Amino acid sequence: MELITTIADARRRLDTARTSGAQVGLVPTMGALHDGHLSLVDAARDACDVVAMSIFVNPLQFGAGEDLDAYPRDLDRDLALADEHGVDLVFAPTVEEMYASPTLTSVVVPELASTMEGASRPTHFAGVATVVAKLFNIAGPCRAYFGEKDFQQLVIVRRMAADLSFPVEVVGCPIVREPDGLARSSRNVYLSPEERAAAPVLHRALERGRDAIESGGRDAGMVAAAMAGLVTSEPLAQLDYAEVVDPVTLARPDRLEGEVRLLVAARFGRPRLLDNLGVLVPEQG
Ligand code: PAF
Repeated sequence: MELITTIADARRRLDTARTSGAQVGLVPTMGALHDGHLSLVDAARDACDVVAMSIFVNPLQFGAGEDLDAYPRDLDRDLALADEHGVDLVFAPTVEEMYASPTLTSVVVPELASTMEGASRPTHFAGVATVVAKLFNIAGPCRAYFGEKDFQQLVIVRRMAADLSFPVEVVGCPIVREPDGLARSSRNVYLSPEERAAAPVLHRALERGRDAIESGGRDAGMVAAAMAGLVTSEPLAQLDYAEVVDPVTLARPDRLEGEVRLLVAARFGRPRLLDNLGVLVPEQG
């Protein structure tokens, strides 16, 4: 496996691979790899000839007072895991390599970025969309793999790639969970044992929302309230939001039909955790 640190080398390496007919798969990450990331690598490995992973803790997507400095970093461990899973090259640039100082250009998708995560993190998705646009430009034509765990991010990246005509197929991959239902996340390491024990309430809340829909509930507000009620019954959870949205537009429907996405977020002590679930609303006869 190769480690590449400059934009020019990454471009050259992937252009050369494409010239010889290879399909390139890109797995963008901020490191601190866990089974969720590795499932993206496995999906890329299955469908592509050359798998590139980026490891870059992107300062633009952290707000003031967020965990940029404390974000878990262990490049040697990440490189070993990437290698074990068949990654061909890791692109791990410095902040100076990625961003001219000051960076004056930003990619924004305001309609999709102002609710849910964006409500409490107003600059977050501009940071994500900007770095992902740069990574797509650097990687060139490819399939790019993102986890459904950050569902709003996936919707925004998909829309940005389509709106800006990037030659990139954005592939969403299912959430990887612990046996008790907790979604894998790099931020789970911040949980105390008590918070860790409480955190699966998010997944149970989503299941409660799904059960409400499957037993005939069609009022989005009532389904959201049922999920919120379960999260707030857990003393260590501080609910941020519980929402039922359209999986493409993120709009909040009044009456539920077709495919919907249930999303919850809550703080457990320091970390804020997210989870979501897709539901196909049964037709009523
Ligand atoms: O999901 C992440 O790890 C990051 O938001 C991403 C997509 C790598 C952009 O920095």
